[in-house]
Amino acid sequence: MQQILYSQGFGTRRVCTGLVEQGYVEVEGRACNDPYADVVPEGLRFRVQGTEWQYHAKAYVLLHKPAGFECSTRPSAWPSIYTLLPPPLRQRPTPKGQPGVQAVGRLDQDTTGMLLLSDDGAFIHRMSSPRHHVPKVYDITVRHALETTAVQRLLDGVVLDDDPKPVRAAACEVTAPCELRLTLTEGKYHQVKRMLAAVGNRVEQLHRSRIGGLSLPAQLAPGHWQWLTEDDLALLR
Ligand code: URA
Repeated sequence: MQQILYSQGFGTRRVCTGLVEQGYVEVEGRACNDPYADVVPEGLRFRVQGTEWQYHAKAYVLLHKPAGFECSTRPSAWPSIYTLLPPPLRQRPTPKGQPGVQAVGRLDQDTTGMLLLSDDGAFIHRMSSPRHHVPKVYDITVRHALETTAVQRLLDGVVLDDDPKPVRAAACEVTAPCELRLTLTEGKYHQVKRMLAAVGNRVEQLHRSRIGGLSLPAQLAPGHWQWLTEDDLALLR
């Protein structure tokens, strides 16, 4: 039991032993007071100091990022998105490097929407590597009405200031005079904002609504998170 608590991020091995010995852990509705109790982790639900938890060998979560949060563990001006997650997700031991889940890429402070986090390095790499071309869909409000020529340029490719190779949108749908839905398969720094600036416009609102085949669930409110299911992971891939 102590090992399970430790793997799920409930503290050091000593802290986890103490939690069990002091009666703070419940398994299947009953107190578990033996840190060395042999418990099968797969599918296990337990409570620690009243908090319900489900065992996950690896953590894959989806956060609905609100505006006004930075995707860094050491933010410069705004609170960190990591403060929106419960401590066990931030403390899970990892084989190397920083403990806890890490964001798959970053969204700007003022961008809202889907953000994936995981402690599985291979998953993070796969989802964020430009080589894998995972499509990401952004719903955007711009300052000036969109002209057909600008939309065509976004599809044909625009040059951003740090790279002579043009970047292009995989798809672009104008949904209202000042609104568009853009699909990108790479994630350069401030890419959406810089692409719209390159065609003489300005992003006023930016929201990521879809990654791969998975959309942001309508019931997941800004600032809230949920575990990704096996079906969600299949849709992402
Ligand atoms: N492109 C941007 O410009 N900002 C984001 O947050 C994401 C994509």
